[in-house]
Amino acid sequence: DLYNFRLIKPDTKVYGIIGKPVGHSKSPLLFNAAFKKVGLNAVYVHLLVDDVEKFFNTYSAPDFISGCSCTIPHKEVAIKCMDTIDPIAQKIGAINNIVRKPDGKLTAFNTDYIGAIEAIEDGLRESNGSSPAVGSPLAGKLFVVLGAGGAGKSLAYGAKEKGARVVVANRTFERAKDLADKVGGQALTLAEIENFHPEDGMILANTTSVGMKPKIDDTPIPKHALKHYSLVFDAIYTPKDTRLLREAKESGKIIVYGTEMLIRQGFEQYKNFTGLPAPEELFRELMSKHA
Ligand code: ATR
Repeated sequence: DLYNFRLIKPDTKVYGIIGKPVGHSKSPLLFNAAFKKVGLNAVYVHLLVDDVEKFFNTYSAPDFISGCSCTIPHKEVAIKCMDTIDPIAQKIGAINNIVRKPDGKLTAFNTDYIGAIEAIEDGLRESNGSSPAVGSPLAGKLFVVLGAGGAGKSLAYGAKEKGARVVVANRTFERAKDLADKVGGQALTLAEIENFHPEDGMILANTTSVGMKPKIDDTPIPKHALKHYSLVFDAIYTPKDTRLLREAKESGKIIVYGTEMLIRQGFEQYKNFTGLPAPEELFRELMSKHA
């Protein structure tokens, strides 16, 4: 009973997730439950899309899709089909949230970076007891991003936007250098990170796939080197408790889970689609029940 087709009427708003593969996505479950709870005349479906440009050219009529989420492998190509793009999403070069405005125009966002950065900001605030009104707790902090792929870009641009000083460390140095240059930061190889400690209280964000299932005994940085950090975030969510996060916790660090980025990026998508606050408790409940 993922979609209740009997409730779909000509004026029902249609949302969906476009991707390939897409069947595994939990988004229809979350969004349909939320629409039902709030009483919105809307449905959210799985949309298996091969050719994203053809998809947008074919279904560009404003009476079809009201908005969609965008996953692998379309996050980059879909940019070409948009009318307007959020400036940071444009810099990152990837979008995952598309909203059709009342005038029919397609506007795109990247909610991944917002989800990750807000989770990290809240982690810092909880530990120092400051209120959200005070400004970003990332301002002025040294923010170390491990990895320079799609997720690495999101974290690096997001951190820069909040006033952090950014360091990018990657196995392939050239990719670290490219990204670091774009955000006005410093580049390192991943191997150099063990001995990199210009100051204490740094923030660490892992966006490499090191430690992901099935190689759960791997970690991108040795435990002893974590002592120079105050907070450790891991974008990996399979498993939730990566070796990196377990060791950070054992070392007394604030830890922020990849699942937190995942769920918060969903909150942002819901807000962009509906203009309403996200039903956060409902999303969290369903995520933990169906994980
Ligand atoms: P995503 O979009 O999830 O960031 P990606 O673009 O494929 O995925 O990037 C994967 C990141 O993990 C890259 O930074 C990659 O390093 P390279 O640029 O050197 O390829 C990093 N990565 C993957 N496997 C790794 C490994 N075994 N050791 C170190 N880094 C690794």
